[in-house]
Amino acid sequence: KKFVQIAIDGPASAGKSTIAKLLAKQLRYVYLDTGAMYRAVTWWALKNHLPLNDEKAILQSLGHEPIVFVPAADGQHVRLFDTDITTAIRSEDVTNNVSQVSALPGVRAEMTKRQREIAAGQDIVMDGRDIGTTVLPHADVKIFMVASVAERAKRRFKDNAEKGIHVPEETLAKEIAARDYKDSHRAESPLKKAADAVTIDTTHLTIPQVVAAIVTEIE
Ligand code: C5P
Repeated sequence: KKFVQIAIDGPASAGKSTIAKLLAKQLRYVYLDTGAMYRAVTWWALKNHLPLNDEKAILQSLGHEPIVFVPAADGQHVRLFDTDITTAIRSEDVTNNVSQVSALPGVRAEMTKRQREIAAGQDIVMDGRDIGTTVLPHADVKIFMVASVAERAKRRFKDNAEKGIHVPEETLAKEIAARDYKDSHRAESPLKKAADAVTIDTTHLTIPQVVAAIVTEIE
């Protein structure tokens, strides 16, 4: 059987994971949040005070330990070394350091390998930065999801408020722009629209409108 692969890439906070989750649920496909994998590695490096530019130390310390996604009533939980890191990987500390760790070629090679292994043998919706360009270059549908920085900062601010995190919207806008810059300018598989991806600008769209637009693409 040939399995269906849907790749959703784009800059930070453009709505990729919200949409990918809904889409996967509707299609009954597996959802893989590749950003959570890079966040998990970053969390581990920070927790163990490993230098964030030392890919050997980071990879050695991680070894073959799997980053586990566990279905739960409130969505997927992420576990690493028997610790539930679902909340911890969304901290400002992880968010503002993840681009440094994800730029390490060895870390990317390891995550890409793991992502392809997960994709093999099942229908999947994967979101990230390099899914359409590098991880699943033969994906059946490739979406490049974008939104204005102001709109993305507004959405992140709302998400944060629900979690009791209070960072000014202006600061969030700066952090989002800085992360996009780093992710787009790294040497190894930078954030980039695949030549055969369809761009969807979600700035003025509702969540159901975006899901519908992608379902149309799939059909
Ligand atoms: O998607 P999310 O914002 O959680 O991703 C966190 C970070 O992980 C990104 O800013 C980027 O540095 C890295 N990432 C990546 N490649 C992916 C997914 C995420 O480099 N496929």
